[in-house]
Amino acid sequence: MFAKEVYSERRNRLKKEMHSGIGLFPANQEAAFNYPANTYSYRQDSHFSYFFGINHPGFFGLIDFESGEEFLFGNDFELDDIIWMGPQPSVVDQAARVGIDKTRPYADIASHVTAALQKGRMVHYLPPYRGETAIELAKLLGEPVNEIRADASIDLIKAVVKLKEIKDALEVAEIEKAVDIAWLMHTTAMKMAKPGMIEQEIAGTIEGIALSHGGPVSFPVILSVDGQTLHNHNHGNVLKTGRMLVVDGGTETSTLYASDITRTVPVGGKFNQRQKEIYEIVLKANTETIKATKPGIEYREMHMLAARTIAEGLKGLGLMKGNVDDAVAAGAHTLFFPHGLGHMMGMDVHDLEGVGENHVGYDEHTKRATQFGTAYLRLGKKLKPGFVLTNEPGIYFIPALIDKFRSEGQFKDFVNYDKVETYKDFGGIRIEDDVLVTDKGHRVLGKPIPKTVAEVEETAAQSREWLKFPGVF
Ligand code: GLY
Ligand code: MN
Ligand code: MN
Repeated sequence: MFAKEVYSERRNRLKKEMHSGIGLFPANQEAAFNYPANTYSYRQDSHFSYFFGINHPGFFGLIDFESGEEFLFGNDFELDDIIWMGPQPSVVDQAARVGIDKTRPYADIASHVTAALQKGRMVHYLPPYRGETAIELAKLLGEPVNEIRADASIDLIKAVVKLKEIKDALEVAEIEKAVDIAWLMHTTAMKMAKPGMIEQEIAGTIEGIALSHGGPVSFPVILSVDGQTLHNHNHGNVLKTGRMLVVDGGTETSTLYASDITRTVPVGGKFNQRQKEIYEIVLKANTETIKATKPGIEYREMHMLAARTIAEGLKGLGLMKGNVDDAVAAGAHTLFFPHGLGHMMGMDVHDLEGVGENHVGYDEHTKRATQFGTAYLRLGKKLKPGFVLTNEPGIYFIPALIDKFRSEGQFKDFVNYDKVETYKDFGGIRIEDDVLVTDKGHRVLGKPIPKTVAEVEETAAQSREWLKFPGVF
C-alpha cells in the first residue's frame, strides 16, 4: 500500500474532474471457483484499489462530488471471521490508512444511495465486469441488472481514464518491479526450453516465480510451441527441436501494477535459418517502433510502422510481394500480424479496458479502424508523457487464416501463397516490452530481458541450476 496521502490526492484529483452527484466504488467480493466456499485467489478491483487502497473484500467506497465527503462502508471482523481468517485492523483503522475518516457499516450504503436518488442526484459508477458487482449495483439503484453496464457514467469513465492513464513515478516504480520479476520468469523459461520438456513444466515454474515474489501472474500465462495461436493457454505439448516456444507472461505487485512481456525462444536454444530470418523482422518491428515512441505521436502510426516493417521484411524473404505501402493499405500484412501493436498497461494488464476499450485507446481525434487486424489495435490515440504501453509485434503462420485468405483470393497481388504454404508448420513469433512515454521520448521499463538472437541463444544455452537453490528467490 502507498502512503495515505497518495490515495487522498487521487480522490482530490477525481473531485476536481467531477462536479455533481456521488460516485460509487464497490470493492470486489470473493469469487467462487467450483463451489461457494472454495474461492479464486482474491483480486481487488483496480479502481477501488486506486482510490481506496484496501486489498480486502467487504468494502464499498463513496465520494460525494458536491460536498467533497468520502465514505468507506465496511464491517469489523467478528470472532467467527477471526477464527477462520485471523484478526484484521478495524474499519476505522483501515480507512485512516488511506486518509478517510468517515466510516459506516456496510449495510448503510443502501440508505446513502437511496437518499441521493430521492433527491434526484446523479449516481456515478464504472461499468462492472463481475456479475456479483452488477447485481449489487442493480439492487442499490433499483435497476434491472442487465441495464447496469450500459448505464455506467460516461463522465466518471472519462475522469478516471484521464487520471489513471498518466502514471506517476511511484506507479512506474511498481511496474518496473513487476518487469524485473518478469525478467526472472522469462530467462528461466529460456533456460528450460529444452527438447523433452512439457510446456506445463515451464508454465508452472514461471507462475511459481510470480507467486514466490508475491504475485499472482497478471494474466494466465500464455506459453506454447503453437505460438501462432495468439492467446494459447494449453500447456500440454512436448518441446521438440525445430519448434519455438512463445512465452507471454507477467506478474502483479502488491499494489496491483502489472508487467506483460513476451519472448520467443527456439527449443534447444539455437534458431535455425528460417526462424532467425522471421525473428529479425519481428525484432526490427519492435525496436524501430520503440525508437519512434514519443509524446504527440498516435500509437496507430506506430502500429502502421510495425506493419510496414513486417511487410517489407516478408517481401525480402519472398513471402510478400508488390509495393509495401499498397500492401499495408490493403491490409495484406494482417495475414501475418493480425493483432495490434499494443495496449495501455497499469493496474490492469490491459489497463482500464473494463471501462470500454474505446474510452481508453481512442478519443475524439482518433477513431478505431474497421479493417480486419487493424481493428484489433487496443491503443490508437496520441501518446502523452506518463503513458505506459506495450509494444508487441508478431509474425504468425495461422493455417486456417492462410487457407481462408487464399481460397477467397484475398491479397493475391501482395502475398506469395505458394511460399507461405511452406511455412504452415512454422508457428509464430512475438516480442513484447513495456514502455513508458517520457517528456521527450520513451523508456523501456525494467531490467532488460534478453531479446536479440545472440542474447536469447546465450541465455537459452544456460542450464537452470539456480533452481536447485530456491534460496536465491
Ligand atoms: N498478455 C496479453 C497481451 O499481450 O495483450
Ligand atoms: Mn502479453
Ligand atoms: Mn500485451
